[in-house]
Amino acid sequence: MSASEIQTLCVTGAGQMGSQIAMLGALAGIETRLHDISPEQLETAVATNRKHIQRRVDKGKMTDDEMAGAFERLTATSDLTAAATGADFVIEAVVERLDVKRAVFEELDRATPEHAILATNSSYLMSSEIASATQRPDRVCNMHFFFPPLVMKLVEVVKGEATSESTAEAAMTLARRMGRHPVLLHKELPGFLVNRILRAIVNEAYHLLDSGVASFEDIDNACRLGLNHPLGPFQLSDFSGLDIGYNARQEIFARTGRPEDAPPRALAVRVERGDLGRKTGRGFYDYSSEPPTSTED
Ligand SMILES: NC(=O)c1ccc[n+]([C@@H]2O[C@H](COP(=O)([O-])OP(=O)(O)OC[C@H]3O[C@@H](n4cnc5c(N)ncnc54)[C@H](O)[C@@H]3O)[C@@H](O)[C@H]2O)c1
Repeated sequence: MSASEIQTLCVTGAGQMGSQIAMLGALAGIETRLHDISPEQLETAVATNRKHIQRRVDKGKMTDDEMAGAFERLTATSDLTAAATGADFVIEAVVERLDVKRAVFEELDRATPEHAILATNSSYLMSSEIASATQRPDRVCNMHFFFPPLVMKLVEVVKGEATSESTAEAAMTLARRMGRHPVLLHKELPGFLVNRILRAIVNEAYHLLDSGVASFEDIDNACRLGLNHPLGPFQLSDFSGLDIGYNARQEIFARTGRPEDAPPRALAVRVERGDLGRKTGRGFYDYSSEPPTSTED
């Protein structure tokens, strides 16, 4: 299967990531089916996409007809078998839990045609851990988009232990068709490229915070003004969702058992309170007013 032959794309998980990845597919001219277990989430996903794309039309970057065409190609369903049947390529973007992802892949393996490629958008799980739930490990890979996918150009395509050259190539070409810039990792390792580099920075930021060296606000200021980063590490964590970083750290901690891999206290207290960052209106910062204000533990 080469990416130019991909006519039908299935995206499962219609949250922050999957909703926009599906939109990229529809904008690229591909028949795209968006799936989620929650019908309400599907409604929100399509409505939010409409707002984003309407803005492009309002700015003259796209015509009304182009927008209408893209939304004709985008269908939403809470029936995974219906979404996956006949799909040439699937991108999975469900919650970051290995057991859930393996169950979804098992079902995808049953429902998709034999030639279909199954990619996971997981941030930290490697495709080999998921591929063994299928009968086609050579057609499974990581395809890691960045938030928000409609804006962020990078996609990390990662070959797992059994991923074939042609699978990786198809994922690279699909990403390019979606107007993204893919990079290829020839071997898998947790965190891929960007998150490994980011984790080194964020871990140091939490270490400095937990050691009482500086406030999180000043650590953010230091990174923005001294390194020219557009957002500091705590602002970025709020933007991505604190639960994403927390769950990833829990997964790593469960594997290694090393205390330094456990979620830092400042992160854990917020996640336990349900303060998950921008999406809940509060994380390290409170977003109920502009500019956002810093919060206490
Ligand atoms: N948020 C980010 O910055 C980011 C960036 C890159 C990759 N990712 C990865 O993308 C994936 C999704 O992250 P998100 O931020 O969109 O999460 P999210 O919580 O916004 O969305 C997850 C969606 O999955 C749905 N879901 C749960 N179980 C399901 C199932 N069995 N079948 C179908 N849908 C199911 C939920 O209803 C929800 O709508 C995760 O693997 C995450 O690691 C996230």
